[in-house]
Amino acid sequence: MIPTREQALELLRKYNKEESHIHHAYAVEATMRHFAELFHEDPDLWGIVGLLHDIDWEQTTTTPERHCHLAPDMLREIGADDSLIHAVQSHGWGICTDVEPSNNLERTLFTIDELTGLIITAGLVRPSKSLADLEVKSVKKKWKDKAFARGVNREIIKQGAEKMNMPLDDVINETILALRPVEKLIGM
Ligand SMILES: [Fe+2]
Ligand SMILES: [Fe+2]
Repeated sequence: MIPTREQALELLRKYNKEESHIHHAYAVEATMRHFAELFHEDPDLWGIVGLLHDIDWEQTTTTPERHCHLAPDMLREIGADDSLIHAVQSHGWGICTDVEPSNNLERTLFTIDELTGLIITAGLVRPSKSLADLEVKSVKKKWKDKAFARGVNREIIKQGAEKMNMPLDDVINETILALRPVEKLIGM
């Protein structure tokens, strides 16, 4: 069963109290919905997975190797099925799980999770403090600057784009387009 957005939000707030974690969930939700529309897939399903992907994040901050491993029990509380649990666990592939992204949805989540962070940070350092005038080329410039948003693992994003079979510039462009309408919602 796929939970409703209300159920997903309630669960997210039950386990995540930091507003920045909620903002990240919204950013990944909006990006997943955008890519679902682009690929003619189900935006509601993709959005729910985006909203819930880091459900156990706050409970595993001191034990990062457990990230994605507390999630299944939490997700079952709202009746999530195995495919949703698989999708959530696959975003930690090679980092904290061995669940390999195996479909379009999972490959997209794996790719855009960290990329949203890089794009938001690139928007925040602009004079406009906005994504409205952020272009792919300025994200690429920040991409090469290792000191900028150093927590963002560029290799994972690159690997993900290859798995998606989509040029990295296109993935960046679509993610900017996905996040522009939700700037306020994601705390920018
Ligand atoms: Fe995560
Ligand atoms: Fe995440």
